[in-house]
Amino acid sequence: MKRLNTQLQEDDCPLELILLIRTLLAACKEISFRVSQGALAGVLGSTLSDNVQGERQKKLDVISNQILKDILSESGYVKAVSSEEEDKVIGCTNDGKYLISFDPLDGSSNTDINSLIGTIFSVMHAPQWMEPDDPSAFLQPGTQQVAAGYVLYGPSTMLAMTTGRGTHLYTLDKTHGGFLLTRERVQVPRETQEFAINTSNQRHWEPCMQKYMADLLAGDQGPRGKNYNMRWVAAMVGDIHRVLCRGGIFAYPWDNREPEKAGKLRLMYEANPMAFLMEQAGGGASTGKMRILEVMPEDIHQRVPVILGSADEVEACLEYFKGN
Ligand code: F6P
Repeated sequence: MKRLNTQLQEDDCPLELILLIRTLLAACKEISFRVSQGALAGVLGSTLSDNVQGERQKKLDVISNQILKDILSESGYVKAVSSEEEDKVIGCTNDGKYLISFDPLDGSSNTDINSLIGTIFSVMHAPQWMEPDDPSAFLQPGTQQVAAGYVLYGPSTMLAMTTGRGTHLYTLDKTHGGFLLTRERVQVPRETQEFAINTSNQRHWEPCMQKYMADLLAGDQGPRGKNYNMRWVAAMVGDIHRVLCRGGIFAYPWDNREPEKAGKLRLMYEANPMAFLMEQAGGGASTGKMRILEVMPEDIHQRVPVILGSADEVEACLEYFKGN
């Protein structure tokens, strides 16, 4: 099986980016180990503090964030990091070429039930003019990402990554500690009969999204003319991984319980990297109104509605938004 390094070289990835990715993955392997220790290492459960998003932090959120911050900031390749768990951008090496954003542990409410969780990351070039702790340098649209992906801590530890030459899946071989290519150039099937949407929120959505869902639930009796199945992992990494592997549509729409929030998911830490992976695998990625990758960020912790997955199903969903 091909090693990660070989695939990155074949995809013409610059040496410094390869070195950065390897450093990032060293951190993820450490997180994978900590996660696998679970109750034996006392890492489950919550802390007594909330993060910048106002969410109660899990112990593993804090541990994963610290591991990533320490390893990346000492690497020499990174000018600044931005984390979902940190209020402010953290300046690293002045002549570092890259900026990296990450969600250290997506789906962390799953830690206590031994279910899927993962680390999501997005890499961009660092502008030369920036001071290392200047957040405005991060405010680039997702089209500027040079690499993005996630590491999924599941029955196996897997990496899904793109550097703009297709989306590849790798599996961590724990016997020698390297990621091996296990699926090259993933292609998400254009059509699907499976959705991943938290339908318990349906009554709070915009009418167009409610209508779309009602039509999916109507199955072969409704306008879509086919029966759909539902899956929900409650960790975006888990749901997106399934969609990449076998198709589907994943959505977290805007809802009116907190109308001032554009959505639940974060543009820089979740939506952009997943949209890059999805588009590179032939899938679609929209906010309902525009391509996710073209959203111009105004804030590093900005939220957006997301609709991602099988291209024809995303298109079908977007039809309901037309004229809205
Ligand atoms: O980051 C937020 C997140 O945990 C995502 O990973 C996941 O898709 C979603 O929230 C789950 O939301 P809910 O609480 O509605 O199941």
